Amino acid sequence: MIRKKVLVTGGAGFIGGNFVQYFVNKYPEYDIYNLDLLTYAGDLTKHRDIEAKNNYFFIKADIADRAEINALFEREKFDYVVHFAAESHVDRSISEPGIFVKTNVLGTQILLDAAKQINITKFVHVSTDEVYGELDFDLTTFFTEKTPLQPNSPYSASKASSDLLVRAYHETFGLPVNITRCSNNYGPYHFPEKLIPLTISRALSNQKIPVYGNGKNIRDWLHVFDHCAAIDLVFHEGLNGEVYNVGGHNERTNIEVVKTIIHLLGKSEDLIDFVTDRLGHDKRYAIDPTKLEKLGWKPTYTFETGIFQTVQWYLNNEQWWEEIISGDYKKYFEQQYGL
Ligand code: NAD
Ligand code: DAU
Repeated sequence: MIRKKVLVTGGAGFIGGNFVQYFVNKYPEYDIYNLDLLTYAGDLTKHRDIEAKNNYFFIKADIADRAEINALFEREKFDYVVHFAAESHVDRSISEPGIFVKTNVLGTQILLDAAKQINITKFVHVSTDEVYGELDFDLTTFFTEKTPLQPNSPYSASKASSDLLVRAYHETFGLPVNITRCSNNYGPYHFPEKLIPLTISRALSNQKIPVYGNGKNIRDWLHVFDHCAAIDLVFHEGLNGEVYNVGGHNERTNIEVVKTIIHLLGKSEDLIDFVTDRLGHDKRYAIDPTKLEKLGWKPTYTFETGIFQTVQWYLNNEQWWEEIISGDYKKYFEQQYGL
């Protein structure tokens, strides 16, 4: 039997990494190719347990290198692409927007061209709720797939641009695409520059936890395993050309999230440090997942069960995040916060 080839870009990062694990283990009948540039956010140690499996392959490559990507697609003739690779951190996009345009916009366009050349069966583009901009604090409003795109940060503008290119390749060339737009993820291997792993790692080291502004901004948190299951469903059942929002109605203010973690770890709230607000800080995100639910998706974690499991994971995997926070990242953090 001819085996199907699935290219996963960004599979050394947080969500792509969890997705690679999930797909390699769930679908032994697929060959999974993890393509990643291994930037500061990519690490392969998370895949030690699947390295030896015969349906897992790693390719070090840059999605923004057209010649390299074209040659790879010509050689391997992938059947499917699930595209996670991106610059993903809003704060970094404020200090260095250019790399976000290169990777997120140009990189996506290069992948679309390469996928078009080999008549791909499906291209799933993993996007974000941030492309919709922000909601106000009226808790009855939600992002639907029909909400206009109004990105506010260089990161979300680059993701929205890539979404529009994906849409255009479907409308113009008939490329079989889906776009998923998920809310904030958390879970194993979340890089400690993002709020939840940053809070856990700082609290465990008894270091100050920077909370932007008054801490009242709201994010809608989803466990990464539930996000992976949503992408699996869209990959197999999504109607070509459609966008699917992903979120589990877990809205929390940032200060609630930080205090929950501090209490789970038995630490003091004195660690909280209210610092200068993020520029253009989006007030609130909240997803209406009705369309995906109609396709058959339901989250399995509440915020309470998910955050408990995640804190446990960081306690059991100290070596992984300690190596990160004591390396180059230390300099970034000091520059960012002066802490
Ligand atoms: P991440 O920063 O943890 O991982 C990104 C990965 O992409 C890294 O492994 C990195 O090495 C790789 N990469 C970066 N530039 C590359 C390039 N030029 N070529 C090849 N690989 C490259 O990101 P994440 O949080 O796992 O997010 C993955 C995707 O999901 C992104 O597209 C992001 O926009 C989207 N998303 C993230 C969230 C979230 O809460 N983290 C929510 C919704 C959507
Ligand atoms: O909504 C999906 C998006 O979620 C993804 O597309 C992005 O890739 C991902 O990084 C995330 O973006 P956010 O900006 O929402 O995540 P972050 O963890 O950076 O911040 C969450 C909230 O916490 C936000 O309101 C800013 C605040 N914050 C963040 C950091 C890093 C703080 O108060 N202090 C901090 O040190």
